[in-house]
Amino acid sequence: MRIGWIGTGLMGAPMVARLVAAGHRLTVHNRTRDRAEPSLALGADWAGSIAAAARDRDLVITMLPFPSDVEAAYLGPDGILANASPGAVAVDMSTSSPALARRLATGYPVLDAPVSGGPAGARSGTLSIFVGGDAGAFERVRPVFEVLGSTVVHHGPAGAGQAAKLVNQALVANVTLGICEAYALAEAAGLDPARVHESIRVGVAGSPLLDFAWPRLTEGDLEPGFKVAHLAKDLGLALDEAGDTRRLPGTSLVRDLCRAVARALGGDRGTQALITQTQPSTQSSEGPR
Ligand SMILES: NC(=O)c1ccc[n+]([C@@H]2O[C@H](COP(=O)([O-])OP(=O)(O)OC[C@H]3O[C@@H](n4cnc5c(N)ncnc54)[C@H](OP(=O)(O)O)[C@@H]3O)[C@@H](O)[C@H]2O)c1
Repeated sequence: MRIGWIGTGLMGAPMVARLVAAGHRLTVHNRTRDRAEPSLALGADWAGSIAAAARDRDLVITMLPFPSDVEAAYLGPDGILANASPGAVAVDMSTSSPALARRLATGYPVLDAPVSGGPAGARSGTLSIFVGGDAGAFERVRPVFEVLGSTVVHHGPAGAGQAAKLVNQALVANVTLGICEAYALAEAAGLDPARVHESIRVGVAGSPLLDFAWPRLTEGDLEPGFKVAHLAKDLGLALDEAGDTRRLPGTSLVRDLCRAVARALGGDRGTQALITQTQPSTQSSEGPR
């Protein structure tokens, strides 16, 4: 397939690599060209604009940070919808707003297909892909999804993929905070964190998130697999989705703590930087909603 790809960051770059390796013809665009260089080195072509990446493609995929980036990429005279070929399909794989996904899907086949599994899952093609939108378009794109992910589930009409991903994020948020608190307690108790990890990873508290975050906490490594600003964004969307029908106190708390980390250290730190909020001197100024 001729695929236009927009956004070659932590997730986009390894996803592009898998599609190139599978024999697809990729044309990529990224705001900062340097960050597309690893994709170009693998054989992808460069597009100087979003419109150029979208033109004459069978499929256009976006992997962008925030809903505002997604909205700008799709709408307007230089956007995807104005430039993609008739008969093409567009897929937004960013984590974004269900309401925006519904808006983009009126009049053009745009699927929402956010993912879980992080850069490691992107490299190994084992992502979980949460799809919403037209069932016929989904069947056409399914072979591409199967290069990227090992679990591909269609959740319903446009926006349903994003809503399902936000459910995932509410869980990720609460587990990540739990891991950071457990790590802080191990330190406070004077335990060897590596031995504690050895014990807890095989019990009911074990998880891929634990195995990702705990060794990084041990090493003091706050580099991102997943950026704290992106988790704050996801949790804001999750709280909007719950609206007044449910209280999500843990999700609200972690959203506020992520914002506090972003203010103190920058939004590009990994979500394991929530550990900094366990220091007695740190206190989020915003309480739970
Ligand atoms: N990382 C994870 O573990 C993970 C897992 C699942 C889902 N997600 C979601 O996936 C999305 C991408 O995450 P990521 O971790 O890959 O983020 P990232 O590393 O920040 O990558 C985003 C890329 O998009 C580019 N970009 C931003 N605005 C653009 C525009 N208008 N036109 C072209 N390119 C633009 C950025 O360019 P610059 O180089 O100029 O900044 C950057 O390279 C987010 O919605 C995130 O929530 C992330």
